[in-house]
Amino acid sequence: MPEIYNPSSRLEAEKRFYSDIVRRYETEVNRFVPGYTEEIIPLVVGEVIKQAHNGAILDIGSGVGNIDEMIIDQGNPQSVDLVEISGPMIEESKKRLKEKNSTIRFHEMSAIEFSAKSESFEAILSNLVIHNIPVLEKEHLINNIYNWLKKGGIFIWTDLVNFSDSAELERCFEERKKIALTMGATVDFAEENFKKEREEDHMITVKQMIEMLKKANFQDIAILWTKYNEAIIRATK
Ligand SMILES: C[S@@+](CC[C@H](N)C(=O)[O-])C[C@H]1O[C@@H](n2cnc3c(N)ncnc32)[C@H](O)[C@@H]1O
Repeated sequence: MPEIYNPSSRLEAEKRFYSDIVRRYETEVNRFVPGYTEEIIPLVVGEVIKQAHNGAILDIGSGVGNIDEMIIDQGNPQSVDLVEISGPMIEESKKRLKEKNSTIRFHEMSAIEFSAKSESFEAILSNLVIHNIPVLEKEHLINNIYNWLKKGGIFIWTDLVNFSDSAELERCFEERKKIALTMGATVDFAEENFKKEREEDHMITVKQMIEMLKKANFQDIAILWTKYNEAIIRATK
């Protein structure tokens, strides 16, 4: 069945969800994504710096720019391009990165509309973003990412994932909800978050992510980390 959706209202809903929480984003992401600060961020930053410490980096769905800040502070990138659909999020990242002595370009747009020359980047990362994008557009984006990478460049894809057994996904939602509430999330926001994940997001399984990467011609695809319904995959051009 083809997906039926209205792209402009879907994009507006996505923008609204993230724009509304910009000031408390880092608090909420730590509540709702177990392992975010202690495990995901160091792993992603470490992989990007290892591959591209003085190369060109693209961050797709850069949020408040916290990952880019660490990449700039810990590495010495030639440039960092940030693509982000939410205006308030990109404003926050501009404030955060304004003192950095680095070439930084901000692109306020959907990843689907972003374009770059072939072979522009040593590393591309997308952290907890692509689950927002419907499957056909996701495929198009993954093909673009392959095209934008230099030969030997890496793509670090961190995302919320689905399972072939829907009961397993529900168990993850329940466990993540308990953790979020224990960490101080409100019941209302927990409901809003998991309603979005259940009804509006477009999570795919790790197997489907790998198939999509293979179809786009990526090599050396490795699952670096998983926890609940979260995964980090590295793929090489
Ligand atoms: C969960 S946040 C992750 C932010 C950041 N990457 C991080 O790891 O903290 C998802 C981000 O993706 C952005 N986003 C959602 N859909 C997008 C799209 N189609 N194109 C670009 N950014 C998008 C949201 O506005 C939000 O800032």
